[in-house]
Amino acid sequence: MDLPHSDAFVFFGATGDLAYKQIFPALQALVRHGQLEAPIVGVGRSGWTREKLIEQARASIREHGVYDEQAFNKLASLMGYVDGDYREAATFARLRAALGDARMPLHYLAIPPSVFATVIGALAAADCAANARVVLEKPFGRDLKSARELNVILHKYFPEESIFRIDHYLGKEPVQNILYTRFTNAFLEPTWNRTYIRSVQITMAEDFDVRGRGKFYEEAGAIRDVIQNHMLQVLSSVIMDAPLHNAASAMRDEKSRVLRAIRPLDANSVVRGQYRGYRSEAGVADNSQVETYAAVKLYVDSWRWADVPFYIRAGKCLPVTCTEVVVEFRRPPREVFGELVPSLSSHLRLRLNREVLIALGMRVKVPGERMAGEDVELIVTRQPGDALTPYERLLGDALRGDLGLFGRQDAIEAQWTVVDPVLGDITPSYEYARGSWGPREAQRLIEGDDGWLDPVI
Ligand code: BG6
Repeated sequence: MDLPHSDAFVFFGATGDLAYKQIFPALQALVRHGQLEAPIVGVGRSGWTREKLIEQARASIREHGVYDEQAFNKLASLMGYVDGDYREAATFARLRAALGDARMPLHYLAIPPSVFATVIGALAAADCAANARVVLEKPFGRDLKSARELNVILHKYFPEESIFRIDHYLGKEPVQNILYTRFTNAFLEPTWNRTYIRSVQITMAEDFDVRGRGKFYEEAGAIRDVIQNHMLQVLSSVIMDAPLHNAASAMRDEKSRVLRAIRPLDANSVVRGQYRGYRSEAGVADNSQVETYAAVKLYVDSWRWADVPFYIRAGKCLPVTCTEVVVEFRRPPREVFGELVPSLSSHLRLRLNREVLIALGMRVKVPGERMAGEDVELIVTRQPGDALTPYERLLGDALRGDLGLFGRQDAIEAQWTVVDPVLGDITPSYEYARGSWGPREAQRLIEGDDGWLDPVI
């Protein structure tokens, strides 16, 4: 059944960093592909005008997208702007006026979670919430308790089918490809379990620092910023069971089920780090303990995954920018050729950068008399760039009312349940050098296995 298309796109945080880097290019793409013809209303509190917003949009697309004169002019003609304090009813009265005849707007909240509740209440009071959809940026809440509270507030004004909790990793082509590859190649399934899989590693490395987002990072830290959401979502795509059918609800059911099976972390299963120099960033406390790196070891309490270790690490100022999953298969049970068992003999590598890369690692014999081999990797596929950026995909879906790639409350709560026990300063934050692979202490998490597999790009 086709759901009605939203008849206006409102975005809070129009003058912010996310809008500049991601949202304007996505909006131009949506306009170019005929998916957005409704009025667009930017809302901000920076004292801007409509003209200034349009100029910023143009600059943003030139810097972070592909500028298309025709599409941009169309986008600009759709754009309006409302400036004001989110705590004042007058701001929302102006928004209602700017919406004109629109009765089913989509409100996209690209603003700090601390102001979600204020904005949601004010939308309702100004008659902007009935029949509307709302898209919320991650992290949804600060912990399990606040995520639940936020959900209660949302449900006062919006039914669950109108709530779109965004995690842009779910809109990434390579993340979609994990599911596609797993559930279209039945030969993988018999090996996709504890009997054949030895361990799984997920690395999200970024070679840059907090890039002026020190204030945000002080409130978040790597665990809230990317482990609780992006990394657990990627993990759930790797470990979930096949959905019973093609409906979005079936996929979301299976994801939630497996997320609930992940054992909550404890102090022994996490190592936090902070790059040297983080404390000199603007907005960061001199004695900050906030982590810019986190490594965790997880277990999934299910028949399929019992006792298989899942290692995840994410950090800023690491040597490269690369996100990848490496599924390591078990070693042969006995040595036949008297060769040292290689460190990484058979594996599946799923690289989640912009390009889709899937590779299969195997051990093969080197020609000659000796029964000796080498590790090789078969590149199964390597496809350049996304045809669709994550935000174009996700905002397009939200405008159509398609919830498939958005987080459901039970999944979000399961994700918080995993990280809740290790939030804050219950473990030390070790300093690491910029350009290194994080603090040395992270090695202890993975000692029994062969160590972290650093992506080579
Ligand atoms: C965001 C985080 O959600 O994801 C950032 O807040 C991080 O800290 C970013 O850099 C990474 O996204 P991408 O798409 O560049 O991998």
